[in-house]
Amino acid sequence: MIEAGDLTTYKPKVIVFSYTEELDQFATSRFVEQMTAKPHSVLTLPTGSTPKGMYDLLVKLRRAQDADFNGLTIYNLDEYWPIKRDHPSSYTQYMRENFINHVNVRNDRWHIPNGEARDANDEAAYYEDLLCQSGRVDLAIIGIGPGTTCHIGFNERGSSIESRTRYMPLDEQTRQVNSRFFRDPNEIPSGTITQGVANILEAKSILLLAKGESKAWGINQTLNGPIGPEFPSSYLRYHPDVTVAIDQAAAGLLSR
Ligand code: F6R
Repeated sequence: MIEAGDLTTYKPKVIVFSYTEELDQFATSRFVEQMTAKPHSVLTLPTGSTPKGMYDLLVKLRRAQDADFNGLTIYNLDEYWPIKRDHPSSYTQYMRENFINHVNVRNDRWHIPNGEARDANDEAAYYEDLLCQSGRVDLAIIGIGPGTTCHIGFNERGSSIESRTRYMPLDEQTRQVNSRFFRDPNEIPSGTITQGVANILEAKSILLLAKGESKAWGINQTLNGPIGPEFPSSYLRYHPDVTVAIDQAAAGLLSR
C-alpha cells in the first residue's frame, strides 16, 4: 500500500501472450489462485471487452468443476451514470450476464455503483464508504482505456493519485470508442461513477489486462512514460505488485 508521500517507483511485471486465449487463461488462473488461497478475498473487477474471455472461463469452471465463489466480496470498478440498471449496455447488466448470474457469488457481496442514483456524488460517497468497510482489496483486475486516454477505472486524464470514488465525465475518446456498446451510439451516458486512482492503488495486488493495437500507446506510456495525471495508468508504477498481462498487439510499442 502506498504511504502518503512515498513515491518509490517499481517495475511492473510484464507478460506478453501470443494468443488471446492464453491471456484469458492466465487472468482466470490468477483469479482462481486468489480465491483458492483466500476464499473470502475482496476483489475489484472490470467490465468491457477485455475481461470477457476471463469471465467465460470462470463460468465454465463453475459448471465443470463446481468452482466456489461463495466467499468472495466483489466491487466493480465503475458504472455509467446516468443509466438504468437493466439497460442492456449498463455494466450492472454486463456483470449479471457474463458472470454473476452463472456463478455462486452472494448477491449481498457483489457491489457496483448505482447508475440510477439521483445524485452521482451521493452515490459515489456511498460506494466509497462501502468499499472502505471491506478492508483492503486483495486483488484488483483492471483494464486500460483506448488511444491516449490511459484511464484505469474511468479515471480519465487529469485524475490525481489521491482521487477516490467519484463522478467522472467521459473523455471524448472514451465516448467514441465505448459508444459501440450502445444500440444508438448517442445513447452513451455523459459520465461514470468510478473508483478513484487511490482506491485502485490500495489493492494488495493489481493485474492489468490489455488486448489490441488500440492499447499499445497506453501500455507503453504506462510502463515507460512520465508518471502523472495526464497518464493515470502510469501511477501503477508506484505500486510494488503490478502484473501487466497483454497480447502482442498491445505490446507493439514496447522495445524488445
Ligand atoms: C471498465 C473499466 C475501463 C475499461 C477500459 C477498457 O470497467 O474500468 O477502464 O477497462 O475502458 O475497456 P475494454 O476492455 O472494452 O477495451
